[in-house]
Amino acid sequence: MLINSIEEVRRNVKEWKKEGLKIGLVPTMGALHAGHLSLIKKAKKTCDRVVVSVFVNPIQFGPSEDFDKYPRTLDADEKLCNQEGVDIVFAPSPKEMYGDAGRLSNDTLTYVCPPFFYVNKLCGKTRVGHFDGVCTVVLKLFNIVQPDCAFFGQKDAQQVIIVKKMVKDLNVPVEITQCPIVREESGLALSSRNKYLTEEGKKDALVLNKILNNIKSCYQKGITDISALKETAYSFLTDKHDLEYLEILDRNTLEEKSQADNNSIALIACRVEGVRLIDNIYLGGI
Ligand code: PAJ
Repeated sequence: MLINSIEEVRRNVKEWKKEGLKIGLVPTMGALHAGHLSLIKKAKKTCDRVVVSVFVNPIQFGPSEDFDKYPRTLDADEKLCNQEGVDIVFAPSPKEMYGDAGRLSNDTLTYVCPPFFYVNKLCGKTRVGHFDGVCTVVLKLFNIVQPDCAFFGQKDAQQVIIVKKMVKDLNVPVEITQCPIVREESGLALSSRNKYLTEEGKKDALVLNKILNNIKSCYQKGITDISALKETAYSFLTDKHDLEYLEILDRNTLEEKSQADNNSIALIACRVEGVRLIDNIYLGGI
């Protein structure tokens, strides 16, 4: 069932709660692919009712980012959700979510601002304000849907860490489940932004995964020095790759260390054909 209004979602949720049903929420920006579907399948397995939100959230895009051209495929998304047995596809308009606040900013809107330590690195460094926008919309969705559980992908590792931190710090009664990265057979992590790439660009984009796999195999061979591990990446990069960051941090806290260990995560952001791609890998286990 496709619903655009907050009030109507609330009416449905109220009935479900009366029946004591367990509610799962999968927040998305649409253009659904197998990565999103893995979250939906997990939600279906563990919850009685599943809501998928499809909302391209204007406040998490910077002024020079791709908000206007972000792929919007609601009909196809709804079909996929129906096939998966999703109970509600919640696709509000920006006006439904933010009212007539005009140009959205923290002059006119209450924002949730995650701590500096978590946002002054990785994607937060170049995407200033991005995680404020993410946390604000995620908390709004939690308040609208009031789910018992919400499902996020490891693909956006910094995002899920920040959402978990928000939930802990603000005592939000929602259990966060993290799901593994879904990849194409080639190794390319699925992303709605892959749609912007040409076939050649998709091949060039494989470098992200190659660099991460190589770091992991070097770690497994006994190299733990983080600078040495990062050095191994450079031989893979060509003039087709515009590397934004490559970091090896603690996978739970995003703390920097000098030596990698089984709690380390390697994270990369790189532009290919002007498209900003991210990927990551756990160095120890899954
Ligand atoms: P979006 O990019 O649509 O992603 C929605 C969810 O799908 C996120 O939790 C993301 O990590 C997960 N996901 C994307 N690609 C994946 C893949 N290849 N494997 C596994 N999971 C994958 O992330 C957002 O939207 C937004 O920031 C949102 C949380 C909805 C807030 O607006």
